[in-house]
Amino acid sequence: MQQFPYESSAQFRERLHNQLPDVGVTDFNKDHQQFLDHLIKFHELVEKDSKKIPLAKDWKLIEETVNFLNRYAKNHFDAEEKLMVKYSFVKLDSHAQEHRECIVRIDDLKNNLIIKKEILYIVDLKFYMLEWLFHHIKNVDMEYKPFFKERLSAKKFRSK
Ligand SMILES: [Fe+2]
Ligand SMILES: [Fe+2]
Repeated sequence: MQQFPYESSAQFRERLHNQLPDVGVTDFNKDHQQFLDHLIKFHELVEKDSKKIPLAKDWKLIEETVNFLNRYAKNHFDAEEKLMVKYSFVKLDSHAQEHRECIVRIDDLKNNLIIKKEILYIVDLKFYMLEWLFHHIKNVDMEYKPFFKERLSAKKFRSK
């Protein structure tokens, strides 16, 4: 998930958005798109900061962005897990486990970057989060697509 040297920011954004699959739940698709947008902003920030020695204000902005991403991820994971609980999705445990591993990794890298203030950690975090997001959506979130599609359309039908 790297920006090619010949690729503009807009092209990079479009390429990544085109690779986001439809998971069948409108709210979750929106979350994924917004999360990706924030990750791309983070990516741009990291690119800029890795070409110089970041100042205190740069670190502050990095920390704020990472905190935001962390909160956003937690809220989205909670929303997915609540819907899985509501409809008794069989793969809830393994899915939630992947969510937890992501949060642990973000927290870990975040603590390192705050304490050690080394650009290496934010470059790591940037790669990790982009790779994780696409891996998770394509392989794990997509598993609930047929299940929720069926449940949610049955609900709509019943409420007519
Ligand atoms: Fe998920
Ligand atoms: Fe998701």
